[in-house]
Order: sequence, then structure tokens, then C-alpha cells
Amino acid sequence: MVKKLLTILSIAATAGSLSIGTASAQDAKAGEAVFKQCMTCHRADKNMVGPALGGVVGRKAGTAAGFTYSPLNHNSGEAGLVWTQENIFAYLNDPNAFLKKFLTDKGKADQAVGVTKMTFKLANEQQRKDVVAYLATPSKSIRPTDA
Ligand code: HEC
Repeated sequence: MVKKLLTILSIAATAGSLSIGTASAQDAKAGEAVFKQCMTCHRADKNMVGPALGGVVGRKAGTAAGFTYSPLNHNSGEAGLVWTQENIFAYLNDPNAFLKKFLTDKGKADQAVGVTKMTFKLANEQQRKDVVAYLATPSKSIRPTDA
């Protein structure tokens, strides 16, 4: 099942859009509501407990200015992890496992050290799709401000 999902995800990644099996489409509006859970630790435009997430889609992992990342998150970015919609979708299910697998797959198991500071997991597939759609919305509300 997991393997099948990963296969579908990589096909979706090739196509450049997130479309997972027969599940319903991404809904950015619903994702805005899901994002409220993230707001315990994240804002679009500033670092809090977690790094600023405005413009995170397309961003290299571990690069929000002024945020001190765990070595695991930082090393993943250095090893080439970019936050595509597909990667955020997979990551949210189990951030720690995702980052460790990423580094191991890159042949950098020695850098897959410690644990991520992102302790939150989101198992619900539809909610993950929706929140990713929300993060990808080019709306002012999720972009970093200049202020
Ligand atoms: C309990 C606090 C908390 C919650 C809730 C939380 N996060 Fe995080 N998140 C963090 C922390 C802390 C980090 C930095 C991780 C590290 O350095 O290891 C992080 C990192 C991230 C990253 C990687 C950012 C980067 O620049 O590499 C993404 C993407 C992310 N979170 C998305 C989300 C989303 C989407 C949600 C809601 C569905 C969410 N987070 C909920 C604390 C949280």
C-alpha cells in the first residue's frame, strides 16, 4: 500500500502536479483551515517555534532566514531536498522518517542523525493534500511580508 502510494506519488511528481489515486482533488480553501493546526508553531512571514512557511513550496529545505534548524532538517537541504508539493505531502505523514529516508536514499545515512524539531504529524491524506495546496497558493496571506 505504502509502496503503491509512493509509486503514484513519483508519477505525479513527474507530471508536475499532485494527484493521488482516486482521492478527491486538492482544496486550498479547506487547506487554510488545516493550516490552523500548523499555526501553533508556524506563520507565513516570521519564524516562531517553527520556520516561516511563506513561499515554502519550491524552497530548499532548511533555508528560512534566521531559523536554527536541527541537523537532520539542515542536512536534508544540503543533500538536495527541495520542498515540492509532493515532498511536503509525504513529509507531513512522518517528518522524522521522511528526512531519514531522504538522506539514506542519497547515500548519506551518516548524516541522518538525531530527530527533527518538527514533532507534528498529519496522517490524514486529504488534509495533507489540502494544506499543501494552501501552501502553494500564490496569495498574499501565505507569502512572506516585507515588513
Ligand atoms: C509543534 C510545532 C509544529 C507544528 C504544529 C507544525 N510544525 Fe512544521 N516545523 C516545526 C519545527 C520546529 C520545524 C523545524 C524542524 C527542524 O529544524 O528539524 C518545522 C519544519 C517544517 C517544515 C520544513 C521547513 C524548512 O524550511 O525546511 C515544513 C515544510 C513544515 N514544518 C510544515 C508544517 C505544516 C504544513 C504543518 C501543519 C500541517 C506543521 N509544519 C506543523 C514545528 C511544527
